[in-house]
Amino acid sequence: MDKVVNVGIIGYGVVGKGTVAALMDNYETVKRKTGIDIVVKGVADITIDKKQDEYLSKIDIVTKDAMDLITNKDIHIIVELVGGYTFAKDFVIKALENKKHVVTANKALLATYGKEIFPLAKKMGVDIGFEASVGGGIPIIRVMKEDLAVNNILEIYSIINGTANYILTKMTEEGKEFADVLKDAQKQGYAEADPTFDIEGIDSAHKLSILSSIAFSTMVDMDKVFVEGISNIKPIDIAIAKEFGCVIKLLAIAKRHGNDIEVRVHPTMIPFTNTLAQVNGVFNAVYLKSDRTGPTLHYGQGAGSVPTGAAVAGDIINIARNIASNINVRVPVLGYEKQEENINIIDIKDIHSSFYMRLMVEDTPGVLAQVGLILANNGISVSSALQRESSVECSGCVPLVFMTHEVVGSQIINAVKEIDAKPFIKEKTVIIRVEGN
Ligand code: HSE
Repeated sequence: MDKVVNVGIIGYGVVGKGTVAALMDNYETVKRKTGIDIVVKGVADITIDKKQDEYLSKIDIVTKDAMDLITNKDIHIIVELVGGYTFAKDFVIKALENKKHVVTANKALLATYGKEIFPLAKKMGVDIGFEASVGGGIPIIRVMKEDLAVNNILEIYSIINGTANYILTKMTEEGKEFADVLKDAQKQGYAEADPTFDIEGIDSAHKLSILSSIAFSTMVDMDKVFVEGISNIKPIDIAIAKEFGCVIKLLAIAKRHGNDIEVRVHPTMIPFTNTLAQVNGVFNAVYLKSDRTGPTLHYGQGAGSVPTGAAVAGDIINIARNIASNINVRVPVLGYEKQEENINIIDIKDIHSSFYMRLMVEDTPGVLAQVGLILANNGISVSSALQRESSVECSGCVPLVFMTHEVVGSQIINAVKEIDAKPFIKEKTVIIRVEGN
């Protein structure tokens, strides 16, 4: 007789619908590949109605109460697609306590409460799948945990927030102000009504926390990730970046140097020739450098009902195969049995990088000399400098831009503090890290 695995889905929003559609539309494909009957047994959502669509009309349990699924003894896998930290956390904990396998797309929950959730899953002997939590439809979590398992992963350079990438792409293509592009993106449904997590780098940091925990075999807490968003980027920075042969991207970067690791999210200037410079609009990409496989690039749709639903369905299939073979937790949740000891997260002040600095200065004699002296006193070597005519950015002052050779973060931070205290400075100095040369 065929094996049957029953799934209960909590949250029937964009990703919930995509998951149900993936499993029901491609039922025969999944059955042919797995030999398993993967059945959407129940769907829960506070606003659900069985008559809402053709999928729900074919599902046994359609309920407003998630506990109807969590406590149902026929359901093997609970899929949490509610989002946020409150109800979602409660559902996941209760599902694990009820010995259900869990699949979730909730990066904020895992990056913040993974320390509680992962050990509980281990204790209960059940799996947690979270492929859809990073990069939407891009297969990356299982690739890192399984296919690259022989490797030490040395570097991650990624674009893992489609909203921020869409805004920067539009600013680059159309020369518009950040606020105008954001408003357009909201109108078109590319940015949420409250875009804070996306534009301030928090969503990318949640995802980087997950990727780097897998890469470096240690739990990298969200609060250890340095985060800076894109809301201070001005068209002038994008235009000058272009003159230097660069684009500005919100990158999530993690690197390993022995036992020291860097984990940081910030706007970054990268040359046009860098592969990540070609990742535009809402697309995501993750570049990995592994010690044996070498560089790999993983590119695709970072959000959306269909690709994200397919990633969730991929986790469900993976767990269903384990259930059908009577195996649980074949692969540890973050890909390691034993945590690496003595991993040290480097403070942003100690991280080496080249910098772009934009000063808004009074156009008077001696300004350049004074700035030059501050840079020199902080051991900062300039690789290029340029001054622009007075612009709309700041009436009565001119933009003065420096590109530096590689320095330590603290050198720049100290120099900017001294520079910004000078009376000839008209606006806070903007710094952007430069990578990928
Ligand atoms: N808000 C995310 C983004 C999509 O803009 O990429 C879900 O991870």
